[in-house]
Amino acid sequence: MNQIKSKGVVPWQSPSNIAIVKYWGKHGSQLPKNPSFSLTLSAAYTRTTARFIIHQTEQKNNVSVSLDGAEQPAFIPKITQFLDRVSDDYPFLNRIELHLETHNSFPHSSGIASSASAMSALALIIADIGGRSGDLQEISRISRLGSGSASRSIFPYGSIWGVSNEVPGSSDYFGIGMEDRMHPVFKTFCDAILIVKSGEKAVSSTAGHGLMASHPFAETRYANARNRLSHLTKALETGDVATFGEICEKEALELHALMMCSDPPYILMEPKTLEMIQCVLKFRKASGIPMYFTLDAGPNLHLLYPVENRNKVSDFIQKELIQYCENGKWIDDAVGTGPNKIMQS
Ligand code: PMV
Repeated sequence: MNQIKSKGVVPWQSPSNIAIVKYWGKHGSQLPKNPSFSLTLSAAYTRTTARFIIHQTEQKNNVSVSLDGAEQPAFIPKITQFLDRVSDDYPFLNRIELHLETHNSFPHSSGIASSASAMSALALIIADIGGRSGDLQEISRISRLGSGSASRSIFPYGSIWGVSNEVPGSSDYFGIGMEDRMHPVFKTFCDAILIVKSGEKAVSSTAGHGLMASHPFAETRYANARNRLSHLTKALETGDVATFGEICEKEALELHALMMCSDPPYILMEPKTLEMIQCVLKFRKASGIPMYFTLDAGPNLHLLYPVENRNKVSDFIQKELIQYCENGKWIDDAVGTGPNKIMQS
């Protein structure tokens, strides 16, 4: 029996991640239609402090959540849905009074995977209260039930979620850490996140996954992703940055192309996103710097590159890309080592 705490304060910080091979399309209980790989980030994170009491009697939605001090009733349905999904394995959740105080280091719902960091932070809290805080596989599994991509935020450096024949131990139910199968060049990779627009997305990821169920190119898409993942795992091991970059950009464009030919179709890129992509391609050709773009389900551009190019890429951003960023905002991020329990002062 795991030791369950009855009352207390549990604070966790969990990072976002950036998918290189994208998860897009799901079935059953948050199971992916194809395997995906992401790099774990460090500067883009969610910090959540939970204050909780486990009562003797059943509690009906005795949950509150605030973001930077402001109550957020709009977040509650997602949180209670998540608690419901994991309550079979963590029955104390039926008796919990839970107050969450949360902070994102980046704009909420901007296409940066806030659901990945927020849901993995919550999963870390639940596992901690339930006495399973060291069990990364279990934490990844319950993170998945909050948000698929959250299953990958638990691990240092990088993670694969979804069965891939080439990767022993991979599973549709939880992510696995790729630390031992990643060349050092990728463990210090940088990710400049250029914020084109920080508002709510017009179409949520949940709706986007849903549209894949009847998408005319769904099967081709899943085959492409599987195939790319197998090439990517080799590139990750050998430090083949060029192959990594090629896959990264194809995946970004394919993800957005899928949105544009869903029924109904929709567009999450902004004109500024495309302008930045053109600038990036031109700069790469002229400079020879191995710098590659990707996108999540939103308009913000991620630029991925090896750390030794940091100064040159920062100069390029300042000179050419900052004009496209909302209020000049970008996040100078890099691959990171995963979640942390925050020490309380
Ligand atoms: O985890 P969700 O349901 O928010 O879906 C995330 C989908 C993408 O960010 C577009 C791709 C991915 O693999 O992270």
